Amino acid sequence: MNSISLNGGQKLAIKYFSVAVALFVAQILFGLLSGIQYLAPGFLHGVLDFNITRTVHINAMVVWLLYGFIGSVYWLLEEESQTEISGLWLGNAAFWVLTSAVAVVVVVFLLVQTGPGDDFTRWFVNEGREYIEAPRWADIGIVVCLSIFLYNVAATFNKGRWSGIAGVLTLDLVALAGIYLAGMFYTTNISVDQYWWWWVIHLWVEATWEVLVGCIMAWGLMKTLKVDRKIVTTWLYIEVALMFGSGILGLGHHYFWIGTPEYWLSIGGFFSALEPVPLVAMVVHAVYDSGVRHMKSSNNPAFAWLIAHAFGNFFGAGVWGFMHTLPQINLYTHGTQWSASHGHLAFFGAYATIVIAMFYIAAQYARGKQQLGDDLPDRGWKWKWALGLLNLGVVGMTVALLISGYEQSFIERAQEGSTWYGYFAAQVHPWFIQGMEWRMVFGSVTAIGIVLLVWDLFTIGKQKAIKVKAGIVQT
Ligand code: HEM
Ligand code: HEM
Ligand SMILES: [Fe+2]
Repeated sequence: MNSISLNGGQKLAIKYFSVAVALFVAQILFGLLSGIQYLAPGFLHGVLDFNITRTVHINAMVVWLLYGFIGSVYWLLEEESQTEISGLWLGNAAFWVLTSAVAVVVVVFLLVQTGPGDDFTRWFVNEGREYIEAPRWADIGIVVCLSIFLYNVAATFNKGRWSGIAGVLTLDLVALAGIYLAGMFYTTNISVDQYWWWWVIHLWVEATWEVLVGCIMAWGLMKTLKVDRKIVTTWLYIEVALMFGSGILGLGHHYFWIGTPEYWLSIGGFFSALEPVPLVAMVVHAVYDSGVRHMKSSNNPAFAWLIAHAFGNFFGAGVWGFMHTLPQINLYTHGTQWSASHGHLAFFGAYATIVIAMFYIAAQYARGKQQLGDDLPDRGWKWKWALGLLNLGVVGMTVALLISGYEQSFIERAQEGSTWYGYFAAQVHPWFIQGMEWRMVFGSVTAIGIVLLVWDLFTIGKQKAIKVKAGIVQT
């Protein structure tokens, strides 16, 4: 890849993006393995158990999305601040420390797999908290690296220019690093433990990550559609106000059944029901800007993925989240495949999409800032098919999981009253099993999509870049 014309932040971003792509592929592979184990529980039993394939699947997801976000911020940092990045060497060092730590954690997950529930396990093997299973030493490393990242960003904006996007972004990164601390202390009371764990899980994904992608979206719309800065900044402020207004207390939708006081039923139900509002605002914003600009973009794949993000965020988080967020409904759906259905569509729709859009912006610049439009030599079939297959695959899985979830709510919860017997009655019902089978069908579609995506990211614009260099065509 020709990266001569890239600035320091962008070169560092390419490193983050490369690891992100590799972990995305790992996520899908381990997703396929855990999906197979649902249908054939003996598959790889004793070699690579379900608890490990699932852990690697969802941790790889959290980490590749974080890498994607960090990369995106480094990518836009010098342009947005109009100055050179401060402390680039430190940022580079943090990248290598973080990446080595991630590699060690994964190897330990794969090789150790089980251990006693004691301090040694917690510090060196697995912390046992879903999504953030990394052992304690790695937690400390993550916080240190995120702090270095925060320093790079704040110091650079301070030296150069502060903008609306810069201010929102920097404050958000303080929250991003800070909230992680809530997942780092140990208590023997499971209710208290879950209470704080949700601070990381919910407040990360429904507050700080949403604001972060709001900033990236604002910048991305300026880049791909040349939308006015004033317009995107005004929308960003509105969205952030609505997001924090609803998302912080919306946390209560995870406090219904974990032993917290009853008032959380009303608080959680009310505020989380408002959470879709900012997501509607984001869709309106994106669609309005696209209309005004007659969908004329300088980077079609990135623009398409930004639009996928606006709708994916709205449907995955807003609609699929809203469906089970009232306590009256959640009583029946809690912890069934409904949650997994929403989890897949939300994480993919809200976050994977926008990080993929940034991958394409990076690919465009790395290949000489050319236009990525319909005049691509292969008419862009690879990115179009990758876009179609990935979205079709995830939407298909979402629907399959929802069908299984419905069946569980009816049989396990409504009919059998959440008994042990009810749980198994629901698991062996043909509708549940068929849902799991369809998940594998659409999971395979997703997997084909990702192969095309990776192929395209490595090759898009290369031919044209060569012709531009040789003076045959202009950018
Ligand atoms: C992009 C934003 C979002 C993401 C990535 C996301 C992801 C997830 C995931 C992965 C879970 C399962 C957690 C577990 O392992 O137990 C979950 C649970 C839940 N989400 Fe979201 N979510 C988002 C936004 C929302 C919104 C906006 C709402 C409400 C309108 C919502 C409502 C819920 C509820 C009620 C649960 C609990 C399900 C249960 O009781 O089992 N989510 N979310
Ligand atoms: C080949 C495609 C995929 C397959 C076969 C797959 C399969 C699975 C399986 C079997 C689980 C465990 C569910 C459980 O414990 O009941 C899971 C969990 C999860 N996966 Fe995937 N997955 C795939 C792709 C993705 C993608 C693209 C994303 C998002 C970017 C994603 C996000 C998640 C999340 C958030 C969870 C936790 C859900 C929860 O606890 O409710 N997966 N996946
Ligand atoms: Fe939540």
